[in-house]
Amino acid sequence: MSAGSLSGRTVLVAGATSTSGAAVARALTSAGAAVVAVGTRPDALEALRASVPGVTTHACDLADLGAVTALAAAVRSTSGPIDGLVHLVGGWRGGRGIAGQPDDDWDFFDRAFRTLRNTTRVFYDDLVASPAGRLAFVSSTAVDSPTAGAANYAAAKAASDTWVRAVAQGFRKDAPDSAAATVFVVGALAGLEERLGDEVVRLWSAPPADVNGARLPLPLSLG
Ligand SMILES: NC(=O)c1ccc[n+]([C@@H]2O[C@H](COP(=O)([O-])OP(=O)(O)OC[C@H]3O[C@@H](n4cnc5c(N)ncnc54)[C@H](OP(=O)(O)O)[C@@H]3O)[C@@H](O)[C@H]2O)c1
Repeated sequence: MSAGSLSGRTVLVAGATSTSGAAVARALTSAGAAVVAVGTRPDALEALRASVPGVTTHACDLADLGAVTALAAAVRSTSGPIDGLVHLVGGWRGGRGIAGQPDDDWDFFDRAFRTLRNTTRVFYDDLVASPAGRLAFVSSTAVDSPTAGAANYAAAKAASDTWVRAVAQGFRKDAPDSAAATVFVVGALAGLEERLGDEVVRLWSAPPADVNGARLPLPLSLG
């Protein structure tokens, strides 16, 4: 995709301070998008601003629906409605077999799921109203090949993966010619962060019907 092809688009990156978040923010910014980067740690967001010039940052606990609603109002007042939501809040915790799946790990994954649920609910109308609305989420190969030791992780990722494909069905109904929700399926992200950034940018050049509801393996996604 050529530089500047996302000019005029505003994209919110939820969970932007990891290596993958910085890579996605950098790819989107290079393509001309206005990037709104969100995480909970102000120091990490400051570091992101230094490494990816031009991004706007907001500290927000995306697991808190009220906080996400306030974030949306702040973003809309300064940047207007968003055209893209890239959800990268995840994290990994493993247990010991089925009986050894800790409740506090489940609570951790539940919080990550709520960040997806909250952001998609609050920004859904923006994405539907956009001439090119895109939602991207990074799922795991564990959804299709779950293990007993990572049952909490796989089950929580499956819930998120399904939620995104439910959003895709909503887009098919409410914005069939303009919006798409896409799941990238990854084993391990290390070393693939820049590729993820490129593939996220490429979602805007793909016809919505081709990528809406799709589960695209990374690195083999769009070919
Ligand atoms: N890493 C892998 O190998 C791998 C494999 C398969 C799938 N994935 C998926 O790929 C995505 C990105 O993974 P990653 O490993 O790069 O990142 P990660 O470690 O899951 O990223 C966490 C990011 O989310 C932010 N965050 C956490 N809780 C938050 C909250 N309540 N509100 C707002 N922001 C919050 C963190 O910032 P703060 O700390 O500042 O809050 C950080 O920027 C995730 O969905 C992950 O599950 C990763």
